[in-house]
Amino acid sequence: MDIETVRNRFIKHFDGQTGSVYASPGRINLIGEHTDYNGGFVFPGAIDKGMIAEIKPNGTKKVLAYSIDLKDFVEFGLEEKDAPKASWAKYIFGVCREMIKRGVKVEGFNTAFSGDVPLGAGMSSSAALESTYAFALNDLFNGNIDKFELAKVGQATEHNYVGVNCGIMDQFASVFGKAGSLIRLDCRSLEYKYFPFNPKGYKLVLVDSVVKHELASSAYNKRRQSCEAVVAALQKKHPHVEFLRDVDMKMLNEVKGEVSEEDFMRAEYVVEEIQRVLDVCDALEKGDYETVGKKMYETHEGLSKLYEVSCVELDFLNDIAKKDGVTGSRVMGGGFGGCTINLVKDELYDKFIADAKESYNTKFGRYPKIYDVVVSDGSRKLI
Ligand code: GLA
Repeated sequence: MDIETVRNRFIKHFDGQTGSVYASPGRINLIGEHTDYNGGFVFPGAIDKGMIAEIKPNGTKKVLAYSIDLKDFVEFGLEEKDAPKASWAKYIFGVCREMIKRGVKVEGFNTAFSGDVPLGAGMSSSAALESTYAFALNDLFNGNIDKFELAKVGQATEHNYVGVNCGIMDQFASVFGKAGSLIRLDCRSLEYKYFPFNPKGYKLVLVDSVVKHELASSAYNKRRQSCEAVVAALQKKHPHVEFLRDVDMKMLNEVKGEVSEEDFMRAEYVVEEIQRVLDVCDALEKGDYETVGKKMYETHEGLSKLYEVSCVELDFLNDIAKKDGVTGSRVMGGGFGGCTINLVKDELYDKFIADAKESYNTKFGRYPKIYDVVVSDGSRKLI
């Protein structure tokens, strides 16, 4: 993220003006995947990669937006009928609309933005963009909206303007991130707790398969439907069940014959994963990284075999990690491509990265990308 570039482009594009500058990060998630929309727990943290946007109200009813990275300029109004066609601009438009729905008097503005969260790598570049604008518009137009509602503005943007029925994890992590801490969020009660995360003798590294799945958003929505179908079946016997969070394996087995085999597998993964988050938090408090790592491998297995959101490339990267004796490794984020997150002992790090690069290239004819992760602060105003 480079504030100078954003400022220079803004000045150039908008005739010498300057505005206010805001930033929001992407995120990692140590464990707790596809649990957020099931009312379960997640364990994300913000990272040192994100979006920076400069913004200045322009006294009109129009937004003039410039994507520095895509070199694309779009102008749109603020009413529902004014939705822009460019997919990147839909995020900014959606945030404006969701803020307006919450009573914020959003007016026209000029803006330019740039980011260094790799797109489609499972590090939530879209949440970083949404959180940047939600935080900025709240500040510039005196919205008085609290941080949770800002995260929900981003989530509602995904639902209503992008078409992804995501949970709250990504936007929450982007807004609430804190340097050096992961955050356990109970996605039902929205209670959260910061856990200092500085595993001595280990590194967290992301290995990006550079695979992007075309149908990721429709497959994601389908997973969510499977979970909801199982909840509906369970509610007939257990009316108190609101989410898979309220379900254990014994209850799940009661509806085995009533739901499809596929939906059952999805639910089985979720029920186990919700418990794994709690187990990992306990292990972390004891400094027991071996258990943390073991649970990460279990998550990968579940995401690959039961939830079926991995792919051959990610399974391959996970196998290399296992072979090299990496403490923990798993596919991170929504899946269908993107990164694995790896907890690696310092002394193994160089060998693992070299192995991952070379064997991946030998098998798939291209190199994975490597990102060392620094757990960082959430949404903020820079100048
Ligand atoms: C995407 C969604 C999140 C979450 C993860 C999977 O990142 O945006 O809400 O469901 O997938 O854990």
